[in-house]
Amino acid sequence: MASYLDHVPFSGIIRIRDLMFTVEDPFRLDQGDVSFDAPDSVKSAMARAIAENKTHYLQTTGVPRLRELIAAKLRNTNRIPIDDPEELLVTNGGIHGLYMLCVALLEPGDEVIVPDPQWPPAAGNVLAARGVPIGCRLHESSGWRYDFDELESKITRKTRVIYLNSPNNPTGGVLLREDLDHLAAIARERNLWVISDEAYEDVVFDGEHVSIASLPGMYERTFPLYTFSKSYAMTGLRLGYVAIKNPPIRDRAKKVLFYTASNIASVVQFGGIGALEGSQDCIDVFRGELRARRDLFYRGVSELGSDIFSGKPPAGAFYAFLRIDPAWNDPSTASGQAASGSQSWRMVEYLIKNGRIGCVPGVDFGANGEGYVRFCFARDRKELTGALQSMKQLFGVHV
Ligand SMILES: Cc1ncc(COP(=O)(O)O)c(C=O)c1O
Repeated sequence: MASYLDHVPFSGIIRIRDLMFTVEDPFRLDQGDVSFDAPDSVKSAMARAIAENKTHYLQTTGVPRLRELIAAKLRNTNRIPIDDPEELLVTNGGIHGLYMLCVALLEPGDEVIVPDPQWPPAAGNVLAARGVPIGCRLHESSGWRYDFDELESKITRKTRVIYLNSPNNPTGGVLLREDLDHLAAIARERNLWVISDEAYEDVVFDGEHVSIASLPGMYERTFPLYTFSKSYAMTGLRLGYVAIKNPPIRDRAKKVLFYTASNIASVVQFGGIGALEGSQDCIDVFRGELRARRDLFYRGVSELGSDIFSGKPPAGAFYAFLRIDPAWNDPSTASGQAASGSQSWRMVEYLIKNGRIGCVPGVDFGANGEGYVRFCFARDRKELTGALQSMKQLFGVHV
């Protein structure tokens, strides 16, 4: 019996989702989904694919035209030296690409260094592949980046992979080129693989997005992982991709892909072709709007006063990962009574029940996230403003 799966947790985001269904007129700042719609280039390509009856089985690793376009994008935009579209595997979104890589790379008990805080499916997928996730802290004081001595201290004889995620969910931290140089040197010296999750490659407000796979000699040991979800507002369509240089590992990954999906939905793949062949203007438009929403949200939070929440606006991604005033307690707790359990969870339950504001407790992203709460500011301006008004009422600011 696969009882090891009993130790793979569901993300707390599921508990939040259930809680949110009990709320009337909620502000859904808990979901990591943009409020934008997919561009017309995607929708018309899918409509055309349906009209042309492109509804049959396809190549397991993806439609050739889509892989060609992805190869060109990886070469020209991400500067990754792809030789051949054969190196690409099209997946059912980024989460499926990560599962596929974990199963293709890990033996039971192999260790994978994951950031703490991290996107919960990172550790979850390592566990689902019978690996062991080892958290390494990201530090708020340096813009949510690593301390490399600390990272090296986490490497053991069992470490096989470093999972990187920049821009990072939930912190919004972006690793600098010098960080990636440092990480590349560690990976080479300790002979480690790197999974580079670049789901938010197009959502960088300050600085640049660099793929570690573009650094000299690094593509050989790096599996760069991408998704159409965030760049083209295609979260529900489920389309992602991974590049794998190493043929034996690619063959293993292809087996996982085949046995979990056979091929990715045909119409969605044609939507991906539409996205890459069409104008890329939507990416800049989305990023500009997300920057405006980030600024709107942080302005509102600063008006709450009393440091109930603090933190600098993130350099990338679309989350506000805010520190809760350590002195805060749910006012319904009897005075003098010591608060128990997680402050992150207490705050989230308070905001959902009393303010109709969906958000996620920082501790759900790892022990280092305790005392924080994550709000997604990719929701539309009306929803953000509503949530801020509600917070002002809750925290006693005159509105
Ligand atoms: C860090 C990170 N990686 C990957 C993904 C995968 O997204 P999808 O499975 O929708 O492609 C997400 C989604 O929220 C994410 O936050």
